[in-house]
Amino acid sequence: MGNAVFTHGAVRLELPMVRATAGNNGYDITKLLARTGETTYDIGFGSTAACKSAITFIDGEAGVLRYRGYPIEQLAEKASFMEVAYLVLYGELPNAEQLDYFNCAINGYHLIDERLKEMFRSAPRRSHPMPLLAAAINSLSTFVYTNPLIDPTDLDGATHRLMGAVPTLAAYGYKNSIGQPMLYPLDSESYVENFIRMSFGVPSRPYPFDEEIIKALDVLLILHADHEQNCSTSTVRLVGSSGANVYVSVAAGVNALSGPLHGGANQAVLEMLAHIKRDGGGVNRFVEKVKQREAKLMGFGHRIYKNYDPRAAIVKQHADAILRHRTGHDELLDIALTLEDTALNDPYFQERKLYPNVDFYTGLIYQAMGFPVDMFTVLFAIGRLPGWIAHWREQAADPTMKIGRPRQIYVGQAKRDFVPLDQR
Ligand code: CMC
Repeated sequence: MGNAVFTHGAVRLELPMVRATAGNNGYDITKLLARTGETTYDIGFGSTAACKSAITFIDGEAGVLRYRGYPIEQLAEKASFMEVAYLVLYGELPNAEQLDYFNCAINGYHLIDERLKEMFRSAPRRSHPMPLLAAAINSLSTFVYTNPLIDPTDLDGATHRLMGAVPTLAAYGYKNSIGQPMLYPLDSESYVENFIRMSFGVPSRPYPFDEEIIKALDVLLILHADHEQNCSTSTVRLVGSSGANVYVSVAAGVNALSGPLHGGANQAVLEMLAHIKRDGGGVNRFVEKVKQREAKLMGFGHRIYKNYDPRAAIVKQHADAILRHRTGHDELLDIALTLEDTALNDPYFQERKLYPNVDFYTGLIYQAMGFPVDMFTVLFAIGRLPGWIAHWREQAADPTMKIGRPRQIYVGQAKRDFVPLDQR
């Protein structure tokens, strides 16, 4: 296939093909408005590529996900989250020296300014940790842009600072909500160890690490590290396209992620499973409600995947191993397995190609780790951080980059004259 031709009355417009190295090519429609006076209409951007990107490839029909060319299955099995974060950010897997430098540079920023802790203390005890995390990341930029010792254009510095500070900020949001002291990160601990200890440890005793939990969280972070132009990443890009700095752009991404159709789905799934259990009507009754459009099957369906989400397949294996190993029997896991099986064998879900997505089983693991439901999306955010930063950087380095500014089709009132207040 080559270029396409679009005809509009007497206008014949050639649409050059923009070639992909894998997956869908795109037609360049940038001249459409100027040549025809008309625009395109694509709700939810389902058929629109907003940029070229070399970070992540997804084949939704085949259930394929690759970061920088590497299949997610290989990365989840063989790499660490820090290796994957480096890969997503810089395009290649690090060698031992590069990884060591990356870890040290990030450790240089995991201790946050003491004044930022006050922000958490001023928030209500029951604050949801997602807006708190977004606010804290936003605040990070105030410490950078007002400090003459820091070069705000130093992108590697900003990358290390965000990667270092975010787990600390995430743990502090949780500690604040339960009224426990905020612990300091330790250079001697790994990225995941620090986050787990800062979340669950107390200053009065050493924290007993559980290797199985550390490994499981590391894998979950890998699975979340990037997912091309999803809602939060597109938000980061759009905000960044105005020239806004990487901190406030990432904070905007955290806010976008919080919605239940996006990252907030992991919390919504657990609430749904708990509701099914409480309701006592069983899985079939809930599935009927979904088919009557009285409820949504959270953790199911995806804009891109029309097949099993490859991340969900990996999470499911881990959920099964961890939950069965720990408790022998987990009622919510049993409900989730029955729900999945029922949906996958039901024509409603089959016809619409609805399969479990990454959020379907993650909440069960997070809960087994001891996290309360409203921390689940924060864990997603920690994982997605390298992806958001990588996209911001990729866009900033692109010489063809323009401010993001969609068009609209105006459907409001025609011109009319102002009516004074006493005549309305
Ligand atoms: N439960 C029941 N029906 C569904 C679901 C679902 N979870 N998802 C889609 N459908 C139906 C939808 O009603 C529509 O049916 P019809 O054509 O008869 O009106 C059809 O499937 C197509 O759905 P859509 O809403 O047009 O699809 P979309 O691409 O706009 O939405 C989605 C994708 C992920 C927002 C949606 O599937 C959804 O709401 N899922 C539940 C929330 C969720 O699990 N989100 C996490 C997504 S993965 C991780 C992430 O991105 O953060």
